[in-house]
Amino acid sequence: MNRSHRATASAHPNIALAKYWGKRDFGHNLPAVPSLSVTLDGMCTTTTVTFDDALEHDEFLLAGAPAADGPTGRVVTMLDRVRAASGLRARARVESANDFPTAAGLASSASGFAALAVAAVRAAGLDWGAERTSDLARRSSASAARSLFGGFVELDAGPEHVPDEGALLSARPVFPAEHLPLAVLVCVATEGAKAIGSTDGMRATATRSPYHAAWLADAPRVFRAMKTALDARDFPAVGELAEHSALAMHANAIAAGLVYWTGVTIDVLAAVRALRARGVPVYATIDAGPHVKVLSRPEDAALAGTWMRAVPGVLRVIECAPGGGARVLGDVAEAP
Ligand code: PMV
Repeated sequence: MNRSHRATASAHPNIALAKYWGKRDFGHNLPAVPSLSVTLDGMCTTTTVTFDDALEHDEFLLAGAPAADGPTGRVVTMLDRVRAASGLRARARVESANDFPTAAGLASSASGFAALAVAAVRAAGLDWGAERTSDLARRSSASAARSLFGGFVELDAGPEHVPDEGALLSARPVFPAEHLPLAVLVCVATEGAKAIGSTDGMRATATRSPYHAAWLADAPRVFRAMKTALDARDFPAVGELAEHSALAMHANAIAAGLVYWTGVTIDVLAAVRALRARGVPVYATIDAGPHVKVLSRPEDAALAGTWMRAVPGVLRVIECAPGGGARVLGDVAEAP
């Protein structure tokens, strides 16, 4: 009999306020430093996984079209882990859609692998909680582990030695979304895909940057200070630390020859500093792409948005607030 098992899940991207850049060098996709992020509403990935005995191989459709070999391979790797854990042997069709530019440094891998993990675990009938599902997502994209949860979320550095088989490294929620009133203005600088993925970028940085050891030493301090500033709901301290974390990460990457920025990135950064010089507390953070995300208090978001939209080259500004975790939208345990 031809049976299929299907589930749909959604997840939001997250932006790290204290960033991770660099992995343990013995594999297992373990971050070398801790990180702390905020999950963003306003952008969303929705993914349906259908395990179907009639399929001969796994299929990955992104926005309705077959995805390239690279992303498909990463999806198959996660599906293989789910099959190994559940005993399910059927191949799967994965249909995923983002309501924001894919692979342009807008954290689509975070929301993508979080939604995929939740949908695949559910479709396979595994009775896994968020902790184990977060670990599954982390094996594909470390930042995806954080998108399992809403609000402010931390992910420890991986262990310093090869972990035991089955050891988990999962993200943890630290403060709920409403803990700190916050607006995040995503200043979209390109709709195109980024040149160098974060895994290759991290490897190149660790190999070639003369500043990598300094980054590895500084990032845990920034992470701890960020937690303290968040605990105190001290928005200027959160913003200053976030901007420092992003600039230190990019200084390290740039020293290895990896320039994710464009002229628009620099111009938005300058606009943030000009607005701050006028007494408005706004701060910048930047992931592995050209888009600046501006952090502001909700009451300053309209003014900050007006300023950033006026920067030549900013295509649009997506306004986000702290959002919720990944969730199952619907499932069919055994569809014909
Ligand atoms: O999740 P990955 O392995 O694709 O890397 C994410 C790296 C940054 O977004 C730049 C920083 C972070 O902590 O999210």
